[in-house]
Amino acid sequence: MNYDILIIGSGAAGLTAAITLAERFRVLVLAKGAISGGSTAWAQGGIAAVLEPGDTFESHIADTMDAGAGLNREETVEFVVENAPRAIQRLVELGVPFNVEDDGDLHLTREGGHSHRRIVHVDDATGWAVQEALERAAEANPNITMLPDMVAIDLITDRHADAPTETDHVWGAYAFNKASGHVEAFAARATILATGGAGRTYLFSTAPRGATGDGIAMAWRAGCSISNMEFMQFHPTCLYNLEVKNFLITEAVRGEGGHLKLTQDAPNPGHRFMPEFDSREELAPRDIVARAIDHEIKRLGLDYVHLDISHREPAFVREHFPNIYDKLIGLGIDMTKEPIPVVPAQHYTCGGVRIDLDGRTDLPGLYAAGEVSESGLHGANRLASNSLLECFVFGEAAANHIAANWDDLPDPPAIQPWDESRVTDSDEEVVVQHNWREIRRFMWDYVGIVRTTKRLERAQHRIDLLRQEVDEYYGNFRVTPDLIELRNLIEVAALIVRSALARKESRGLHYTTDYPDLAKNAVDTVLKP
Ligand code: FAD
Ligand code: SIN
Repeated sequence: MNYDILIIGSGAAGLTAAITLAERFRVLVLAKGAISGGSTAWAQGGIAAVLEPGDTFESHIADTMDAGAGLNREETVEFVVENAPRAIQRLVELGVPFNVEDDGDLHLTREGGHSHRRIVHVDDATGWAVQEALERAAEANPNITMLPDMVAIDLITDRHADAPTETDHVWGAYAFNKASGHVEAFAARATILATGGAGRTYLFSTAPRGATGDGIAMAWRAGCSISNMEFMQFHPTCLYNLEVKNFLITEAVRGEGGHLKLTQDAPNPGHRFMPEFDSREELAPRDIVARAIDHEIKRLGLDYVHLDISHREPAFVREHFPNIYDKLIGLGIDMTKEPIPVVPAQHYTCGGVRIDLDGRTDLPGLYAAGEVSESGLHGANRLASNSLLECFVFGEAAANHIAANWDDLPDPPAIQPWDESRVTDSDEEVVVQHNWREIRRFMWDYVGIVRTTKRLERAQHRIDLLRQEVDEYYGNFRVTPDLIELRNLIEVAALIVRSALARKESRGLHYTTDYPDLAKNAVDTVLKP
């Protein structure tokens, strides 16, 4: 079966694009695990949009640029913010059961950095409801085929044509089929990368196991510019639990009055410390709250801090956070009566494949949308609940551009099959597992919330060594999903460290003690292969 368009990724960005395109075209969507396996299904807090009486686009734009420390591209911020109410309306039409007030208006919650109540949500499990609605719409559309368990390895470019040329048009991707164990070529007139972020480059992350930056690495290898990779967002409040390592406690808990306090191991247990760091207290932008917690944990030698909402009515807490309440009760923590132990963890990849307002990358035929991309919306730090929004707006923008320019997109040439003639099965799987662990450990220790040039250089040195080992391994052995991801993790780690070393200032999420001040001009870090 031939498809017109290939979409790699089945989260909010990929499925939004698929549903828009399927009005006219045959679309193939690949996911590397289950169709609902991306970050979208895990989103808790909600989606930001100007819907409250008295709120304005100007205010949402100003909050986004304030969180982004001036690095945002203003035209992108305006484009996304102005399209937000329409994106929410479209989700309502798709059947997303957003919480409503008694009068039928959407219930709006509040999160850090927002100067208004602006977040539409479905309890504390918004992402799951969104993913379900998008999947339902995609499944009902005969023009959309969704294939799970297909791990895209590399983009197909003119170099892979039967008659290779020096041009760099993208014609689809090679993907490893987990069921058959073979690599297949999927050719298309246009390709959209919607592969999500790269959180798993770090030891502790709120993101799912598959967030290994595959799209960023594939785009880089194919020749795309990658920008602002030093801006890795750490969420301030990930549950601290030795068994459950990546459970997020939504920012909406602070939005509804939760306080951050020192634990019993501090000299002044129960002390609420955020007022000493920022006048917005617990609702300061994430970079500020995460750095404050990191500072207190390191200063006092704590394992974690407390997030306490037990001063609010138990019924209110249970009603607003039913999933978090249930999860914590299962772990022996009653959040209506006691504080929750929390630590910061990697949460969101602000940088990525550089795109324009139509979702176009540098390469003809290749688009990107969602967390894989760097659209200019987030700048040096993403404002809470702006990222699902970006997926909807850019998923649709990329689809619209493809549809509007369809006649100018040529048919793909004949493509060479994947060549396995010079590789054998691996007999040293331990190398892959060891290197996976090693990267995530040193990225956490050396390229975390507070950085120094010396630690970044140490990380770079390790990346150089690991890269040699993994390249050799990749050249000799048949690919496996873990090896494909490991190769991408190294590529992405290298991009993060190179970008961090290039930034000689502290801005937004990038804080280095060697350059603690803000430079006069805000300049993107753009890496070109
Ligand atoms: P994803 O939803 O991550 O989907 C990626 C897709 O790409 C998946 O289908 C995956 O299988 C596929 N894929 C990846 N690599 C390959 C490959 N090599 N081959 C084939 N397929 C591949 N944002 C908000 O705005 N509001 C929130 O409340 C919120 N809460 C969050 C809570 C958590 C715990 C997390 C982790 C994130 C949260 N975010 C939130 C961020 C937001 O969820 C993500 O930025 C967003 O869902 C990303 O969507 P996406 O479509 O870009 O990618
Ligand atoms: C959260 O619910 O705290 C996550 C919101 C986001 O990542 O935007």
